[in-house]
Amino acid sequence: MTRRITKAVFPVAGVGSRFLPATKASPKEMLPVVDTPLSQYAVEEAAAAGITDMIFVTGRNKRAIEDHFDSVPELDAALQSKGRADLLELIHGVLPAGCRCIYIRQAQPLGLGHAVLCAQPVVGEEPFAVLLADDLMDGTPPATAQIAACFERERCSILAVEDVPREQTASYGIVSPLSGAQAGDEMLPIGNIVEKPAPEQAPSTLGVVGRYVLTPAIFPLLAAVKPGSGGEIQLTDAISALLGRERVLAMKLRSRRYDCGTRLGYLKATVELGLKHPEVGTGFADYLRRRGA
Ligand code: UTP
Repeated sequence: MTRRITKAVFPVAGVGSRFLPATKASPKEMLPVVDTPLSQYAVEEAAAAGITDMIFVTGRNKRAIEDHFDSVPELDAALQSKGRADLLELIHGVLPAGCRCIYIRQAQPLGLGHAVLCAQPVVGEEPFAVLLADDLMDGTPPATAQIAACFERERCSILAVEDVPREQTASYGIVSPLSGAQAGDEMLPIGNIVEKPAPEQAPSTLGVVGRYVLTPAIFPLLAAVKPGSGGEIQLTDAISALLGRERVLAMKLRSRRYDCGTRLGYLKATVELGLKHPEVGTGFADYLRRRGA
């Protein structure tokens, strides 16, 4: 099995119902945090981990994502004629150098597992990363670089996890470590995984967040999965089957996660990244101070 991950799958075909009405006609993954769409943060994060093939699984109303990563000759010409070399450089950098985008359609939003399975013809027999762009990760080294480095050492599937409040377990895939593993460890072998358990049934409070490295052994298992929680083909169910065949690790990332698929998570990301922004950060901090936030 190859050591280096060069392919990342971005499932972006979901309906984004938690962010309506913004997602009625526009993709959730194009919501901007300060001035950059969520999908661009995710692509930059993957590129920082050495990934070159950005595989988007898209669906209805997602054309804006494809347009965002394409070049726009009219915009180039307009900026050139205005002498705005700074903005030209900015838009030419949207797709990191040396990277390419590949688009596959998921004809119906049948679930995250189904979306990942749609990428199989492009991924082939290689381990690959999965990034859910609505989980915006902030930290150094970038989240995908952390998980890819772990893969280079361990050569097995790895799921990013974080401790979530017990009352929120029904929003996550929840893993339980193999017996003997210490919950405080950064990396834990997984014994069991369940999708969206009720708090009283959750085997732990370790919730899977939107970064994975998976081996290609996941594909036949995904193909065999029947609709599960919410009537969707769940990635969690295929990972559960994978546990019977291969070692799978849970990894606690040294990154702060903002769940930008929810209104509150999105607002938090906007405030925190706004405060760090090189151009507007000081002015924004000043504004928040003056209004007593
Ligand atoms: P979410 O659970 O956030 O689903 O999916 P969603 O449909 O986008 O949002 P809500 O729950 O209705 O508000 C996690 C990721 O999986 C993708 C989504 O685009 C998101 O990035 N996804 C989900 C697909 O690509 N296809 C699907 O069928 C389902």
